[in-house]
Amino acid sequence: MPQTADLNAIADALTAQGWIVLPAFLSAAEAAALAADCRALDAAAALTPAATGRESGRREGGLRGDRTRWFEPDALSPPQAAYWQAMDALRRGLNERLLLGLESVEAHYAVYPPGAGYARHRDRFRDDDARVLSSVCYLNPDWQANDGGALRLHLGNRLHDIAPQAGTLVLFLSADIEHEVLPATRERLSIAGWFRRRELGSR
Ligand code: OGA
Ligand code: MN
Repeated sequence: MPQTADLNAIADALTAQGWIVLPAFLSAAEAAALAADCRALDAAAALTPAATGRESGRREGGLRGDRTRWFEPDALSPPQAAYWQAMDALRRGLNERLLLGLESVEAHYAVYPPGAGYARHRDRFRDDDARVLSSVCYLNPDWQANDGGALRLHLGNRLHDIAPQAGTLVLFLSADIEHEVLPATRERLSIAGWFRRRELGSR
């Protein structure tokens, strides 16, 4: 659970550069509990391909190759509930410091099989206009540099790669930061989430 000092640093980084990496957001035990929960759901075929049809499970020709499962706020498993609470604390803490108007959180598990990635994109305009702040939290312990699978941020003419190491949380402004998931040589587990503003219009 982030402390006050962390919230100030997070708010400052989001204001100054639009993104931040928190390497030890979850403890090893918290990440392991979430990974086990994710694997159990996946084993029960509760995750569904994020891409459809022939594209599913492959990067070539498809935007993304992961399988996902949304967290349901009314039916959270114990590790999901702990994660949800941490996200909501982050939401409230950032609202006190920034004028982002974060109203709600959403999150899903994502499993990328070996070789799968997610092509370069922005989160807000592709999927959902109410997304303000994106979060990705990683669940694989002992990730090695040559396992691949980095989250690659496209920052103007500069690239910044982040290893999907268990416990690391990445936050970035959904409308601003282009990013992609590079293919990995091993299965890659994460929780992607979004902090949402009040929705305008029909939804
Ligand atoms: C996404 C995404 C990044 C990652 O789900 O929109 O960009 O590192 N995920 O898993
Ligand atoms: Mn994304």
